[in-house]
Amino acid sequence: MARRKQIYEGKSKILFEGPEPGTLVQYFKDDALDRDNRKGTITGKGVINNRISEYLMGLLGEIGVPTHFIRRLNMREQLIRELEMIPVALVVRNVVAGRMAKRLSMPEGTPLPRSIVEYYLKSDDVEDPMIAEEHITAFDWAGTQDLDDMMALALRVNDFLNGLFYGVGLRLVDFRLEFGRLWEGDFMRIVLADEISPDTCRLWDIKTNEKLDKDRFRRDLGHVEEAYQEVASRLGILPEGGPRDMKGPEVMQ
Ligand code: TMP
Repeated sequence: MARRKQIYEGKSKILFEGPEPGTLVQYFKDDALDRDNRKGTITGKGVINNRISEYLMGLLGEIGVPTHFIRRLNMREQLIRELEMIPVALVVRNVVAGRMAKRLSMPEGTPLPRSIVEYYLKSDDVEDPMIAEEHITAFDWAGTQDLDDMMALALRVNDFLNGLFYGVGLRLVDFRLEFGRLWEGDFMRIVLADEISPDTCRLWDIKTNEKLDKDRFRRDLGHVEEAYQEVASRLGILPEGGPRDMKGPEVMQ
């Protein structure tokens, strides 16, 4: 079989050419970078994030949020729609944490009176700086209609995920979303892309405030793999065979 053409390699995923035009294969790695860009590995993370992202994007699709997800191919790969990516990430915050806590010198864990959506430029040259709507429209990274669509989708995703995670005892503190444009003839839709997983969300146990996300890795808190497993387990979607199966065969079909 011919080797697949690699389209892009990021911190935690690789994109390959898909089997049909307009599709890509998204491969989830175990690699993780911390804030100082030190490389590390979270064993089994790719398998769990593939599964969690499949699950959440599937549910979001059912409530009418358009996503790039088509189907899972195997333990580390999913088939997705190829999009024209918008170089702006949206971060939705429900509770003060991370960069917001630092920037505003506020204690982590302060609840926000209402959800706040921030924009960040996705850039390889500078560390994804926060930007304003004015930068986005002035530099034509996205139009005002695109922004309206992304904002509306981000708030719907937040409402839905808040309830879903609350139901399994997790507080959705914040999360990051990426979007792209899907062209169907002359018609264009804004579609949710990338992944939704403990790499891209902050999830705290509702009772104990224990962190069950990538902050365990970023901040050297230990029990990193267990945190990812715990989130999957609470969602009822641990990979077949449980944690032991996580380094299992690459191709399952
Ligand atoms: P922040 O507090 O560092 O801005 O992160 C906000 C949320 O965005 C948090 O849930 C983690 C997620 N995030 C990513 O998914 N990728 C990134 O590169 C960064 C910086 C944050």
